[in-house]
Amino acid sequence: VNVRALTWTGSHLRFIDQTRLPHEESIVETDDYRVVLDAIRRLAIRGAPALGIAGAFGVVLAARSFRSCPLPQFVSLLEKVIDELRSTRPTAVNLPNALESMRHILQGNKNARTDEIIERLTEKAISLLRDDEERCRAIGMHGASLLDDGWSVLTHCNTGALATGGDGTALNVIATAVRQGKHLHVYVGETRPLLQGARLTTWELRKLHIPHTLITDSTGPFLMQQHRIDAVIVGADRIALNGDIANKVGTYALALAAYHHHIPFFVAAPMSTFDTSILRGEEIPIEERSPEDVLTCQTNIGKGAIAPEGTEALAPAFDITPAAFITAVITDRGVVRPPFDASIPQLISSEQASWL
Ligand code: MRU
Repeated sequence: VNVRALTWTGSHLRFIDQTRLPHEESIVETDDYRVVLDAIRRLAIRGAPALGIAGAFGVVLAARSFRSCPLPQFVSLLEKVIDELRSTRPTAVNLPNALESMRHILQGNKNARTDEIIERLTEKAISLLRDDEERCRAIGMHGASLLDDGWSVLTHCNTGALATGGDGTALNVIATAVRQGKHLHVYVGETRPLLQGARLTTWELRKLHIPHTLITDSTGPFLMQQHRIDAVIVGADRIALNGDIANKVGTYALALAAYHHHIPFFVAAPMSTFDTSILRGEEIPIEERSPEDVLTCQTNIGKGAIAPEGTEALAPAFDITPAAFITAVITDRGVVRPPFDASIPQLISSEQASWL
């Protein structure tokens, strides 16, 4: 059975607490939106597409708990919850995109009964989940042909089932190519400081029986220099109209090195990761996390300090990779290539046309 980061039981959101992986597969089942809010804050649920879906179900759970409130109070309480969920993680655009679509339903149904509004919110959240499952499948199919048999592929952070509502984005491109019979080897960057590569991607690759090797983040460029990497493939948290992307910090350094070594650098993301209101990467808000993340290292026996007490530390969670270093962006609607400032707006208008 495939790993699923999030499932809806009909009354509860069930999710894997990713902070406990790989040592423990801890499943949380909750009908309390505050548990979802907290899970997003502490990265128990993470990854751009999964954040959007979890946010939507957070709104559903809140709506169910406010169901007996008079309508005006129901609406204002839910608006507050939407704002609270929006403020948790600023970089992945999937979260505000999903939350604003929930707000749209709320505002468009102000004359309906609360149980009708709850029904519509629930339908929307379920469709976001199903939709992402389908988008992941399509990304895998579109991207698989870009990877050749026998290649070694470098990836960063976690872009598998744990990060999405389906089987993943960049990691699912790899998994789909392998299912098609290609032999691939995956180099996994550990992804300091929170180790999504070491803790989560290796866990998924092991379940998928895909050969892989864990490296420290700084090892990638050296392997490229040694001709041991044939392609880099990563996900994205937000894509600007010109093709600049925000992704887990460390992505930019890999893109620079890949460019220097003439190695293809692929980005895989669903259409929900494009921000049509942003022209360039520098406009993307970058989440700043606690210096504590950098000053400590999490092990199965707890958190250990890795620097003298009082050391100053800086923890941007993401960085920006300029479009100039990106070979292609793999989406559920196909693969786009440079010049991105033409191909991306065209892709987005074809996506919007399909909804009319
Ligand atoms: O901080 P995280 O773990 O939420 O960051 C996740 C990433 O950077 C992923 O690469 C990105 O969200 C794409 S997930 C398909």
